Amino acid sequence: MNTSEGETLKSVLGIAGSLRRASYNRRLLNEAAHLGREELRLRVYEELDQVPLFNEEHEHPIPHGVLHLREAVRAADGLLIATPEYNQSMPGILKNAIDWISREEALLKGKPVAIIGATIGSWGTRLAQAAVRQTLAATGARVMPQPMLFIARAGERFDSDGRLHDVATVSGLTEVVRAFRLWIDMQAFGVRPRG
Ligand SMILES: Cc1cc2nc3c(=O)[nH]c(=O)nc-3n(C[C@H](O)[C@H](O)[C@H](O)COP(=O)(O)O)c2cc1C
Repeated sequence: MNTSEGETLKSVLGIAGSLRRASYNRRLLNEAAHLGREELRLRVYEELDQVPLFNEEHEHPIPHGVLHLREAVRAADGLLIATPEYNQSMPGILKNAIDWISREEALLKGKPVAIIGATIGSWGTRLAQAAVRQTLAATGARVMPQPMLFIARAGERFDSDGRLHDVATVSGLTEVVRAFRLWIDMQAFGVRPRG
């Protein structure tokens, strides 16, 4: 897809680590889609509940829900993961999804990924995001190092319609979306972070 400036819109798959209808993390992704609409075409994955629990004995044939998820990942230029924190780590459904995707190695190797997260707690999903980073390090995904976005007390930052109204959070999310667009371009051109 081309923007008015003739640049290509990058396609991003948003994955929320929550199945809750009113999930703050899914709302965050919807907001990112809105804020980044000039640079990204962000689609939020809504079928994570169709992905079964991973079992090496059930990989052949690959379950339909997994094929569907893998196709969505394959088609995307990048992944934006929004994770809640459960018991100081990422939720099981997110780890399960990453494990399934990782069994087709080429899917995550070199894939640009950005991680954000929201919680009703006070620490903003720091440990959950660290866990996602650690897991993705095993897959060869290119995880954007900065900027990070840790959203604490999420209930105060969204209005009753589910829209993000907190100015500082909107600004932080906008920064992430812009940086992620650049990050995707950098990976496409083979530019690697130093160090
Ligand atoms: C089993 C469980 C464990 C949780 N553990 C933590 C935690 O360790 N740290 C934290 O900040 N929030 C914790 N929470 C709160 C969730 O992060 C919070 O409910 C969040 O809003 C859920 O994400 P969602 O709104 O996208 O569904 C926990 C919630 C559940 C259900």
